[in-house]
Amino acid sequence: MKESLQTRDSWNSKLGFILATAGSAVGLGNLWKFPYTVGKNGGGAFLLVYMIFLLLIGYPLMLAAITLGRKTKLCAVGAYKSINKNWAFVGFLGVLCGFFILAFYSTVGGWVIYYLIEALKGNLNTTDSTLLANIFTNFISSPQKSILYQAAFLFVTYLIVVKGIKNGIEKASKIMMPTLLIMIVIIAFRSLSLPNAIEGIKFLFIPDFSKINLNVIMNALGQVFFSLSIGMGVIVTYGSYLDKKENIILASTYIPLLDTFVALVAGLATIPAVFSFNFEIAQGPSLMFITLPAVFSSMSFGYLFCIVFFILVLFAALTSSISMLEVCVSYFVDEKNTKRSTSAIYITLVIFLMGIPASLSMGILKDFKLLGSLNFFDFYDKLTSNIFLPLGGFLLAIFVGYVLTTKVALEEITINNEKFILSDIWCFLIKYIVPPLVFIILINSLKELFILITN
Ligand code: TRP
Repeated sequence: MKESLQTRDSWNSKLGFILATAGSAVGLGNLWKFPYTVGKNGGGAFLLVYMIFLLLIGYPLMLAAITLGRKTKLCAVGAYKSINKNWAFVGFLGVLCGFFILAFYSTVGGWVIYYLIEALKGNLNTTDSTLLANIFTNFISSPQKSILYQAAFLFVTYLIVVKGIKNGIEKASKIMMPTLLIMIVIIAFRSLSLPNAIEGIKFLFIPDFSKINLNVIMNALGQVFFSLSIGMGVIVTYGSYLDKKENIILASTYIPLLDTFVALVAGLATIPAVFSFNFEIAQGPSLMFITLPAVFSSMSFGYLFCIVFFILVLFAALTSSISMLEVCVSYFVDEKNTKRSTSAIYITLVIFLMGIPASLSMGILKDFKLLGSLNFFDFYDKLTSNIFLPLGGFLLAIFVGYVLTTKVALEEITINNEKFILSDIWCFLIKYIVPPLVFIILINSLKELFILITN
């Protein structure tokens, strides 16, 4: 582990940890994935299930992950291994998961870069849904463009991870994150003031219970894991750099709060506008890219807003993608003794190759289905959000609850005599609620995938 401890920067301050972890959590998952997943899964009904899972599963696991990281002071694989050798595989699963997430995350990261350039050229200045849909479709139908922009996104991620310029990122985050927050709040206000916006608010906040089905439940759980970056070792690794003096109860409370706030505001920025402009709410991954330019076009200074917004989305996406690449790279550095620069370049190349079919999924590979109705893009998404991440979360809960034991975890959490008023509830959730609940949903996801494979 030595080399990694030397080459990986540690946080300059508690704010550094919060920024980095929040940076990992807040990303395309909030701005792009949350609004369209809500749109595809019945609106308010999905949001309700999401909130329940956030409280019962996401929040307790966030604390468990930070605690495990800080207790062992090791990267994900090392953290599990140092407490019980047989558990190293959990860290390994996380690394594998990182490859699959980045493969499609970088596709969308590429879309953001393309949109930023189009915004600079002033090409997004319209509220016409057909025109906006054409811009999106033309872009993703071009294999060269999709792949080129995906490569660009991965390349920047690679540069940041290998050059270790996280100090710069930490400083930049202090400006970029608050600016992003302010911007999406303004965009949300604009979206909410559009004619007919009320329909969107109703859609988002009034649950139609008849819409709750197994799929909605699986997707809500997957979205909680994805959005909080939980289940693949990112938080464990980041927690390992946190100083013993810091209060992890507070840290693990701020992050889900902030993450959920950003997702909700992104929902408010997007969904009312979809209803106002009469766009299709269940259109899937293109939702943000088609709707938000229309909102900007209806604002004064919209041209500038659009540019700044895509810069900030790109930044948020990068702070997330580096967290994933970091977990993969540090695994090879720590466990396989590979040089950091060598492992980073090979991993990035493999992810790029895996990502190519994902980038082509909505273009020339549109009619190619990998499994049942799933193309590469959907497959990577479902495989990670609905299977790998819940599996990682399930194993994390079992590990902290029964192997490390909640007693030892609580000692770590309250090492400076911090008051943890919810300690009994937390132990109860980690031991008796999270494992069975996640397990049941996971089994159903596996069943669903199995049906897709055998069909
Ligand atoms: N949470 C990030 C987002 O919302 C994505 C992400 C970063 C992630 N690291 C992760 C998802 C680890 C799962 C696991 O965009």
